[in-house]
Amino acid sequence: MADGEIRKGLAGVVVDTTAISKVNPETNSLLYRGYPVQQLAERCSFEQVAWLLWHGELPAPEELAAFEARERAGRALDPRVRAVVDAAGRTAHPMDVVRTAVSLLSALDADAHDSSPAAELAKAERLLAAIPAVVAYDQRRRRDLEPVEPRDDLDWSRNFLWMTFGEEPTATAADVFRISMVLYAEHSFNASTFTARVVTSTLSDLGSAVVAAIGALKGPLHGGANEAVMIAFDEIGDPGKAEAWLDDALAAKRKIMGFGHRVYKHGDSRVPTMEAAMRRLVQEHGADALVELYDRLAAAMDVAKGIKPNLDYPSGPAYRLLGFDTEQFTPLFVAARVVGWTAHVMEQRAANALIRPLSAYVGPEEREVPVGG
Ligand code: ACO
Repeated sequence: MADGEIRKGLAGVVVDTTAISKVNPETNSLLYRGYPVQQLAERCSFEQVAWLLWHGELPAPEELAAFEARERAGRALDPRVRAVVDAAGRTAHPMDVVRTAVSLLSALDADAHDSSPAAELAKAERLLAAIPAVVAYDQRRRRDLEPVEPRDDLDWSRNFLWMTFGEEPTATAADVFRISMVLYAEHSFNASTFTARVVTSTLSDLGSAVVAAIGALKGPLHGGANEAVMIAFDEIGDPGKAEAWLDDALAAKRKIMGFGHRVYKHGDSRVPTMEAAMRRLVQEHGADALVELYDRLAAAMDVAKGIKPNLDYPSGPAYRLLGFDTEQFTPLFVAARVVGWTAHVMEQRAANALIRPLSAYVGPEEREVPVGG
């Protein structure tokens, strides 16, 4: 890359090293600390994957047990956070609610400004435990339902669904949700993770980095796409209209949400696993029209543009079938990606350099301010 060459959106620019995950677009593969994400999704709990991303190795049984006990002890919704969620009212988008709640959780954390490795890890664990209660409570209050207390006999994924819906998930629902959380947990230098690293690079605190990352994730070109996929499905309605809808949308130069990726140009490595999981839910629910629309739109997009789905495409319908409101989909992404963000905060902190790129100025040449303004 030539000195001074501008790469819009930092496309193709290697900014730093990371040992957390490896995306290989050539082989369509994604490794977390060396392990294929598909194997992790098949064989590990979300707690094991979180530990792996933070520590670099899968937990030993006694490490896992101690971590699970801490996580289960930190699940209850802090009444001060509940008050802030209530204060946001119902017009606030759930991403704004979770961003505000995480800001308060971080401000209240006794280790807020301790950036030692032990304190950073403890804060990361506490956010992992606390965020599901925020999302679940926000979902319930919008349906005029009372909050549900956490259960410490359930793993993180099952408890998340329990607190949201007030009933134990089916085995399929729990598994599909866990898989989606594992797939969403980490993805190298994506926009929100890079945001977290930029904030950390100024020696700011972990809570600020996570709040900023949530802001970056919210946009529909990034995490907001899982919500936008379902909005598009609802707009199309009848599966038979998928092709005509796509023609019109492309003619209007609209971006089709849930398709395309900055790094993967031949398909997202996470899609086959998530799609298979989503189809299990479709079977359980008999949601034939939903999957027909899913298949027809993907096929039409392939023919029209040759652009493949990204992870948000199958996760949107999966979250619909699990029972979440469309607006809650991106907060679910937050609950999982907080693991990746905080792993990157710790990695950035350990070998920090202020992230401060240059720009090429294209504004007016120097000129004089007229006397008198
Ligand atoms: N719909 C329509 N056209 C698309 C799409 C899409 N989803 N994605 C790419 N294209 C087209 C662009 O219009 C462009 O065409 P052109 O060369 O004729 O102008 C070409 O493909 C290249 O696209 P770029 O936007 O330049 O590619 P980039 O790498 O910048 O974009 C991005 C990647 C932002 C994800 C894009 O594919 C997109 O907007 N997708 C929809 C949003 C989305 O699903 N985001 C989720 C990302 S994955 C995640 O966060 C889990």
